[in-house]
Amino acid sequence: MSPESLLDDTQAEKQEVKGYFETTGFERWNRIYSDTDDVNKVQRNIRIGHQKTVDEVLSWIKQSGELRDVSFCDAGCGVGSLSLPLAEMGAGSIDASDISEAMAQEAQRRAEEAGLTMSKLHFFASDLESLRGSFHTVCCLDVFIHYPQPAAEEMVRHLCSLTEQRLIVSFAPYTPLLALLKGIGQLFPGPSKTTRAYTLKETGIVQAAERCGFELVRRSLNKAPFYFSRLIEFRKYRTC
Ligand SMILES: C[S@@+](CC[C@H](N)C(=O)[O-])C[C@H]1O[C@@H](n2cnc3c(N)ncnc32)[C@H](O)[C@@H]1O
Repeated sequence: MSPESLLDDTQAEKQEVKGYFETTGFERWNRIYSDTDDVNKVQRNIRIGHQKTVDEVLSWIKQSGELRDVSFCDAGCGVGSLSLPLAEMGAGSIDASDISEAMAQEAQRRAEEAGLTMSKLHFFASDLESLRGSFHTVCCLDVFIHYPQPAAEEMVRHLCSLTEQRLIVSFAPYTPLLALLKGIGQLFPGPSKTTRAYTLKETGIVQAAERCGFELVRRSLNKAPFYFSRLIEFRKYRTC
């Protein structure tokens, strides 16, 4: 396949992801990332697993003491599951964005509902690729599921370029067992209810960050049935 058609495919897939999260995806994930009982068993488990990831990030940030006077970028913020508690904890400033306007608007609505109307918390629609600026801490949780390996590594490099000190990312890690299950699933395709989901090889993600002058300082694995997410904190140790 030529580089041009690869690029076209990537753009087409991105538009598909955006379309999904403006419509059925918004409706589905807005329910998952809430406390409504209107979720099925799988969605409830995803909610539980995702909350573990968010709680761990908040605890890492709290432990580090780097919070007040710190600028945060929440890239692919969804409905604000990380940004809202971060603002409540007293983060210096938070720029939170999502490719889906529906998700970003819901995050803003939740912020207003929670009385978090400070100017330091800013929700807006943007894809990761268009993000610019410089932030002490950049977080990107559970967004790489929409990126195949080379694009995810490219995105790690982009996020590194926005990060002054700390980069926190989470993604579904590639494991041979998951690959096998996925392969079996593809032999019996059912009606597609969602977008494509990619698992990623951790070594590729870590090497991409290392090449940008970042080192892995801690990692964890957050699990629940139907949820499996590797969480990594990188620190910048040199400028490329
Ligand atoms: C599974 S949700 C995670 C949301 C949030 N990070 C969290 O942990 O609560 C994935 C989010 O990534 C967003 N997304 C997907 N592709 C994106 C892209 N290229 N740029 C920005 N956001 C994207 C989706 O709209 C969706 O809100």
